[in-house]
Amino acid sequence: AAPPAPSPRDRGVRAPGRAAITAPHLRTDRWWLPPLVTALGLAAFVGYSTWRAFANADYYAAPYVSPFYSPCLAHNCVPMKGGADWALFGPWWGLSPALLVLIFPLGFRATCYYYRKAYYRGFYAAPPACAVAEPHAKYTGETRFPLILQNLHRYFFYIALLVAGILTYDTALGFRDTHGAWGHMGLGTLVLLANIALIWAYTLSCHSCRHIVGGRLRHFSRHPVRYRLWSWVGVLNRRHMLLAWSSLISVGIADLYVYLVASGAFDDPRFF
Ligand code: FES
Repeated sequence: AAPPAPSPRDRGVRAPGRAAITAPHLRTDRWWLPPLVTALGLAAFVGYSTWRAFANADYYAAPYVSPFYSPCLAHNCVPMKGGADWALFGPWWGLSPALLVLIFPLGFRATCYYYRKAYYRGFYAAPPACAVAEPHAKYTGETRFPLILQNLHRYFFYIALLVAGILTYDTALGFRDTHGAWGHMGLGTLVLLANIALIWAYTLSCHSCRHIVGGRLRHFSRHPVRYRLWSWVGVLNRRHMLLAWSSLISVGIADLYVYLVASGAFDDPRFF
């Protein structure tokens, strides 16, 4: 008679042939701390950004526009002097204009190789940490719907380049005064500058970017320019996790700054 099919409990680390260890794992360090901190950090950002995205208020304080609301794609945006204003969605759009914009950076980050690792570990315990078995009996990886959609990341990268370009333009607009005259600067200008520097560093440190720049080549020696670019992207790529977090925090701070100024809770100090 055929041997009985292994039960789901006998798969993975408990499959026949694997070391028969009865302990759930052999790690003695605080392996649970990084996934816990990651889950709390991501949940805090999701909570804050959801509140701000639906608020539909206090996102423009001349000359600053919140990165959550740029570019303006809806008819119902507040008038913004010189801002990227492409009202593709007419008066029938009654929801917050941020909802039309945030899906792109959200898609870029949600499919990012680093964030995938972070939220698979933090929220799904799949697996919770290295050498700690996951609780799920079945594992199909990213080979099926819906996780196969993670492959869209490379396309989100191109959109992220466009978004970074628009935020660069917004940052340049920050060198004006409240009436639109150029050659001025306030604390908000520095906040936007720091944010756009981190957004660019994160975007260019993307693994897809590294592949686009230096992948599918047989001989680097015949492509010195791409080799040079690939080396630069590699320097950023090694810090991808750090840049993912620092740009996430900076974009939240940039939005919070505009909110505080626009709502009248804080006056933007002007340097000149
Ligand atoms: Fe993280 Fe592309 S891999 S942004």
